[in-house]
Amino acid sequence: MKVSILLMTLIIAASVSGVSNAADGAKLFAEKTCTACHGKVGNKPLMPDYPKIAGQNKAYIEQQMIDIKSGKRANGNSAAMKGVMVIVTDDEIKAIAEYVSKLKP
Ligand code: HEC
Repeated sequence: MKVSILLMTLIIAASVSGVSNAADGAKLFAEKTCTACHGKVGNKPLMPDYPKIAGQNKAYIEQQMIDIKSGKRANGNSAAMKGVMVIVTDDEIKAIAEYVSKLKP
């Protein structure tokens, strides 16, 4: 009895986290300090030479984050962002990319 309640709770928790990617993306975008440099909704960067990312293509956002994290992309000001990427996992990158791609440019 107790075991089946526990199992049900786990299944519900797993399915909730599975479908809430967009909401997670919004939360992560703020929590991982992306907002500090790219603006609250990704369209007002901190510095004039930092990019606006709101509404950018999802696959592109994901790839740039992966490349900045790994150091493969090391042009311009990407070093400024590399430091924060150590706290962002591959799954989180996907959720954030989904969210940012849907923001209004
Ligand atoms: C400390 C400042 C800073 C933080 C924090 C930061 N970024 Fe960046 N980000 C930058 C800068 C600067 C660039 C541009 C690098 C360059 O000049 O090539 C950039 C580039 C990008 C790009 C590529 C844009 C393009 O047009 O190529 C994406 C996507 C991006 N950031 C998303 C994020 C996300 C998502 C987060 C949070 C996990 C984040 N950034 C956190 C500063 C930051």
